[in-house]
Amino acid sequence: MRGEGNGALARAEAETSADAVCARLPGFYKLTVPERLDLLARMYRWGPDELGAVRANGSLSAESANQMIENALGIFSLPLGVGLNLSVNGRDYLVPMVIEEPSVVAAVSFAAKIVRESGGFAAEAEPGLMIGQVQVTRYGDPVRAAKAIAAHEEQILALANSFHPAMQRRGGGARQIEVRTLPAPEGPAGEPLLVVHLLVDTQEAMGANLINTMAEGIAPLIEQITKGRVYLRILSNLADRRLARASCRIPVEALADFNMPGMEIAEGISQASRFAQADPYRAATHNKGVMNGIDAVAIATGQDWRAIEAGAHAYACSGGQYRPLSKWSLDDRHLVGSIELPLALGTVGGAIKAHPGVQFAFRLLRVSSAREMAMVFASVGLAQNLAALRALGSVGIQKGHMALHARCVAVTAGARGLHVKKVADLLVKAGTVKVDKAREILATLCFEDGEEVGDLA
Ligand code: MEV
Repeated sequence: MRGEGNGALARAEAETSADAVCARLPGFYKLTVPERLDLLARMYRWGPDELGAVRANGSLSAESANQMIENALGIFSLPLGVGLNLSVNGRDYLVPMVIEEPSVVAAVSFAAKIVRESGGFAAEAEPGLMIGQVQVTRYGDPVRAAKAIAAHEEQILALANSFHPAMQRRGGGARQIEVRTLPAPEGPAGEPLLVVHLLVDTQEAMGANLINTMAEGIAPLIEQITKGRVYLRILSNLADRRLARASCRIPVEALADFNMPGMEIAEGISQASRFAQADPYRAATHNKGVMNGIDAVAIATGQDWRAIEAGAHAYACSGGQYRPLSKWSLDDRHLVGSIELPLALGTVGGAIKAHPGVQFAFRLLRVSSAREMAMVFASVGLAQNLAALRALGSVGIQKGHMALHARCVAVTAGARGLHVKKVADLLVKAGTVKVDKAREILATLCFEDGEEVGDLA
């Protein structure tokens, strides 16, 4: 292992035990990929089997892929990285992140470091209550139909639970019925919509399959009770009974950077927050930044990230206007940030057991429940957002982005090994991060080194 962070990395290794991880790994980025894996293996006391999955690129076998989807052709890979420094409710987490965008892992790690030095994130998450929707039509009088459904709540819940008795034994299951009457989209001439919500505690599962089975299972009983006709029976991705929240409080001095006082950076962040609250055009981009972090950890941990995205954006609209999921303000020389969003996550089900890369991600993340995982996800989203707003409200993001983007451009131009960094640095210095320019620089470097460009791979 090389690099100035040697002592600190050895300390992190010593501080990591079966119950606790040290997420502060200074100099980690300077290690080679095998050195990073070796360090993690020592920290977590992993054996060769546990490391095997990630050494083989955490890949699915072609055979597993063929079982998972139709018309499988192969496996599609993305980089897997680790977000550092995250402290949530006094506990450290190393965050597995799968993402192609260069700056995201560095941004989360950087912001998480600022926050951990200010006490870390405080987070909470609601139990896993999911909503199944049953749409009833041709029911006659809506008030009578709604009353009839409510009067049969116990019977409907018992029937729903009969489709998944194991979930009830684990302390979850169908909990409650809600009946909603919505105005007809065609206007007063149309039949109002009658929608039954089945609220189900899905415990450690994201719950889509369970909810859909229950919603389909109770439909005949609802038809019988209302004398109506049921059409859709499906979960709602607006999982607003499964909210997660995270917050942090940072002394403004801790934000000083780019030769600017911390107060000015904090002011930039709170102005960015005001902008997103007032303007949906900005809120969409603000939330995209939040989801950069959340999606990356969701993909690494095998979550249904489309469901998470759908829920987040629907929740962002729930007040009637699309709004930011997070907020930042100044309070007594502190920058205060908070985030709230629905997070329908699972530690069981989906691709979790089938995918060796996902198994590895869970070993790294070390969460003991879906609720704990939701607290980590919310904190990662807030960290990513802090990093973006800090740059946007001060020097802009292009400087940092371009330095990282230059590495990809250098690789595209054919640079390999030590040449990647050299070409990238020279691209940034030249102020033109383009493949043609990278080829030109690479050719000069190769000429100086007496190599042919084609030999470098
Ligand atoms: C880019 O992937 C994400 C940002 O645009 C987020 C934001 O503007 O807040 C930088």
